[in-house]
Amino acid sequence: MAIVQNWMPPSRENWELISYYWQFFPILTGVQWLIDWYPQGKTSTESRFNIPGKTGWASMESAGFITLMYIMYTLPRELGIEELPWGNWTMAGCFVIHYINRAVVAPLFLNPSMSPINPLVWVFAFLFQMINAISIGGWLAGYGPTTVYDWAGRAWIMEVGLVIWALGLLGNIFHDDDLREIRRAADRKQRKEAEKTGKAAEGVDKIYMLPKNGLFKYALYAHFFCEWIEWAGFWVVGGWNCHPARTFLLNEIATMLPRSLQGKRWYEKKFGKDKVGSRKAVIPGLI
Ligand SMILES: NC(=O)c1ccc[n+]([C@@H]2O[C@H](COP(=O)([O-])OP(=O)(O)OC[C@H]3O[C@@H](n4cnc5c(N)ncnc54)[C@H](OP(=O)(O)O)[C@@H]3O)[C@@H](O)[C@H]2O)c1
Repeated sequence: MAIVQNWMPPSRENWELISYYWQFFPILTGVQWLIDWYPQGKTSTESRFNIPGKTGWASMESAGFITLMYIMYTLPRELGIEELPWGNWTMAGCFVIHYINRAVVAPLFLNPSMSPINPLVWVFAFLFQMINAISIGGWLAGYGPTTVYDWAGRAWIMEVGLVIWALGLLGNIFHDDDLREIRRAADRKQRKEAEKTGKAAEGVDKIYMLPKNGLFKYALYAHFFCEWIEWAGFWVVGGWNCHPARTFLLNEIATMLPRSLQGKRWYEKKFGKDKVGSRKAVIPGLI
């Protein structure tokens, strides 16, 4: 059943239109190079319109995988496709696994605290999720490969792509958790103090330290870098012609690169250039 006729799930014409224009998203991210205002995370600002960090992340990031699954289950029926090949479901599975972690497990169950989000950032992230899910979902659910023959002879390259994807995902999870450990350790310390002094613990909101483990030794946003590896692997699985996976990777880099450079400036200001040392912003040894 279509929620919005010809748009959700998208008709071929509308899907082509969306996925074509989605390639130009990096132009919009030019703004991030010009202005430093990014009211989220480390650089969040106080505003009575702010959305609480955990529910903000969960709601904006869930939009993508829910939309993708909806398209996977509705579009093939509309197009008269009886069964999608396993390659399509493998890629959909990769996407959903990533976002169940990002949108549900991490913010709602693992992260000790998350800074509030300005509604404008929430809206942009939500739109990113929706458009990206339509672009990838349309390709996977009927406008890309539709039979096992479309995947024929690609098993080995898909395996390579899946290994890259999994390494990127594990690296992303490892480094995300290293950041969490900073606040978990602060929480443990505060609780001990509270037990001794009888005063209530202050809470761990906005507690920051320089992360030091894994690739953080070489780049302050190593978790972003690992996520790029993950989506590069996803593109390898889909193959050179999987333009929605390519667009997704390039769009992520376009928005996360200026964010990580801004983050490096933030770390240098907070902890001093000498403490940050020779660490790069996002790609070890490079940027
Ligand atoms: N930002 C993007 O544009 C973007 C786009 C696509 C995917 N992602 C992915 O989403 C995940 C989270 O992204 P993000 O932009 O929220 O990353 P982030 O700014 O590094 O924050 C991640 C989490 O760790 C906390 N944190 C960050 N630095 C810390 C430090 N030095 N000490 C202690 N805690 C620290 C943050 O708390 P606060 O919230 O209080 O700062 C937040 O809860 C990453 O894995 C990233 O790959 C991000």
